[in-house]
Amino acid sequence: MSKPVLEPDTAADFIVLHGRDCTAVLERADPGPPLWRYWGPRLPDGALPEAALESTRPLPSFSLDAEQPLSLFPLFGVGGFTAPALAAHRAGHDFAQAFTACEIVWTVPGQALVCRLTDAVAGLEVEVRMEMHADASTLTLGATLIHTGEGVLDVGWLAAAVIPLPPQSTEVRTVTGRHNAEFVPTCDLLGRNGWSRENRRGLTSHDRFPGAVVTTAGAGPHTGTTYGAQLAWSGNAVQRIEWIDDGRWQWQLGEGLAPGEIRLARGERLVSPEVLATCSAHGLDGVAQNFHAAVRARSDWPGGTMAPRKVHLNTWEGFYFRHRLDELKALADAAAEVGVERFVLDDGWFHGRDDDTSSLGDWWPDAAKYPDGLAPLVHHVTGLGMDFGLWVEPEMINPDSDLYRAHPDWALHLDGRPRITARNQLVLDLGREEVRAYLLDRIGPLLDALPIAYLKWDHNRDLTTAGHQGRAAYHTQVRGAWALMDAFRNRWPGVEIEACAGGGGRIDAGIATRTHRFWTSDCIDAVSRMGMQPGYLQFMPPERMGSHVGTAPAHSTGRSQSLDFRAAVAMTGHLGVEFDLRRLPQADRTRLAAWIAFYKRHRDHLHGGRVWRGEAGDGLVWQAHGAADGALLLFVYRLTPATQKYAPPVRLPMLAEAGPLRVRRLRPEGLSPERTGGAPWFDRLEGDGVAVSGAWLAASGLPVPAMTAESCVIYSLSKDLT
Ligand code: DGJ
Repeated sequence: MSKPVLEPDTAADFIVLHGRDCTAVLERADPGPPLWRYWGPRLPDGALPEAALESTRPLPSFSLDAEQPLSLFPLFGVGGFTAPALAAHRAGHDFAQAFTACEIVWTVPGQALVCRLTDAVAGLEVEVRMEMHADASTLTLGATLIHTGEGVLDVGWLAAAVIPLPPQSTEVRTVTGRHNAEFVPTCDLLGRNGWSRENRRGLTSHDRFPGAVVTTAGAGPHTGTTYGAQLAWSGNAVQRIEWIDDGRWQWQLGEGLAPGEIRLARGERLVSPEVLATCSAHGLDGVAQNFHAAVRARSDWPGGTMAPRKVHLNTWEGFYFRHRLDELKALADAAAEVGVERFVLDDGWFHGRDDDTSSLGDWWPDAAKYPDGLAPLVHHVTGLGMDFGLWVEPEMINPDSDLYRAHPDWALHLDGRPRITARNQLVLDLGREEVRAYLLDRIGPLLDALPIAYLKWDHNRDLTTAGHQGRAAYHTQVRGAWALMDAFRNRWPGVEIEACAGGGGRIDAGIATRTHRFWTSDCIDAVSRMGMQPGYLQFMPPERMGSHVGTAPAHSTGRSQSLDFRAAVAMTGHLGVEFDLRRLPQADRTRLAAWIAFYKRHRDHLHGGRVWRGEAGDGLVWQAHGAADGALLLFVYRLTPATQKYAPPVRLPMLAEAGPLRVRRLRPEGLSPERTGGAPWFDRLEGDGVAVSGAWLAASGLPVPAMTAESCVIYSLSKDLT
């Protein structure tokens, strides 16, 4: 049987979305879903396929007479052989699906559309949403499944996005890790057997970040076609990259569903999380910058715009559970003196909480530590001109708590199975409205009565036996936690929230829309942080990256670094201090105050623009914040002692077109220049600086002074040549 030849070849048959740096082209294939024709670097306007895909493909031997090329939403069982975007059945029936109608509705012409797909035989509909954020060069994708048939539709998989990757794709990079060691980079070669990654921990996790970056042949840190995608979801997640018959790859991302978790009655729907997908011709940096812009565009700041990121003091490592009002007041005094702007009272403040064995759920101030409640401390802090922030872990319950004694059934559990504790705690069933109401009613009065401007919202364990009345409740747990955060935000819109899960266990683009800072890791060792920051920054912007100056030796590693190095490493994120400042010698206090003042002077620049990262070799790494026209702050870090006689210059490829730039050495006020070893050029960088061509900096590089291990030099690069 000969194939019908399609001859559409008119613009109306193609769906085109352009971003600043990327383009998506799909071909209409009614009644089926649109076919993926192109996803990659920006095409000129009007550059379209010459012909329908089918008319350009001779039918290979031993093929179906109507093959199904990669589409926006591939299905199983009626001629589809690629991994399907849906796995569903009705008591074993309707396991095979095919769409009988497709309607495309542009919600914002040229920018956002909904593709409504109907399978009248299986009794279901799928809506695929696509929106191009032009400035961020990022596509936001998502799918909704609606059950329109009889009985119950069991759903095992609903892809939030199906993204094509070109045949030249070679490597997949993502991050893994554990508590105290987050954002460890991984790199896997893509082979014909594909790549996959599943997170079953019930929250975003320390080890399975729900996103990745795919490079094509020849791509690297700063150049080459590179793709990225991340799932905006704070729970179980699946990513799969599958090789398909035409040499391309399909990348699917979606929520990981437990057996029997989603059973839709007629009229019910399952809404997938969203996926942020991007492509850049500027390598890993380009993808990171697009992700930063996309996360920024989704941010919901109190008052509508991001206020300067205030310097924090967090009490955890300085005090742990040992709260004494007089000591905390003295700490607040010392913090205000060095320029701290927000004092965050961490774990240990509530009823009976003297260690990590009890009390989660009992959210009222401990009468022994705070006989007059939190008011005396809060007012002391705000009287010093600082914001007050409070630590909470709303989703948790200790078996040793008044709450558990009253409501043991409120913990997620499965009858007949052990209630497995972690850090002595269980997880509250946030799918239950009465549980969410209890948390609002218990924590809320503190926010009503006191000027609390900030919540650090923790989640210190993975989910196990996440059951509700015998059924899996991972999905409702995430939706419930998000709903609770939204309820807090609605009632106290001025309060910022920090997402923490034993450090970086819940960092994702879903929780980012309802929170304002991530606690990157419980490890504050500056050398460790230098390892984590690149992985974090690949997916998330710097202004949300909680980074603190800790004590030396660091509690998590036992290693010590100088105060200057600790400060220079913390400087590029959202700065904080986390140790008992009262014990810091006066000379160091002055030094820390100088670094804090430096941060305040430069934070708009650090937090508003683009970030580039690179390695110069021989232990030198660099990070630049700003704009590609040359207005940059450049941090050059030496991590290990030099092995070469002369340090390799730092090449800055993004400056190739920037023209002449003035390079100046920056340092916090009052900190004296180190000896330059007799090389006068470095002296000239002090004060007015030196004019250097951007092309030279890109091709040959910026000379670097002799530096000891674990040190940093900072430069400003600017257009101001006068
Ligand atoms: C884990 C967090 O990451 C720490 O910063 C601290 O808040 C503790 N929890 C408190 O229990």
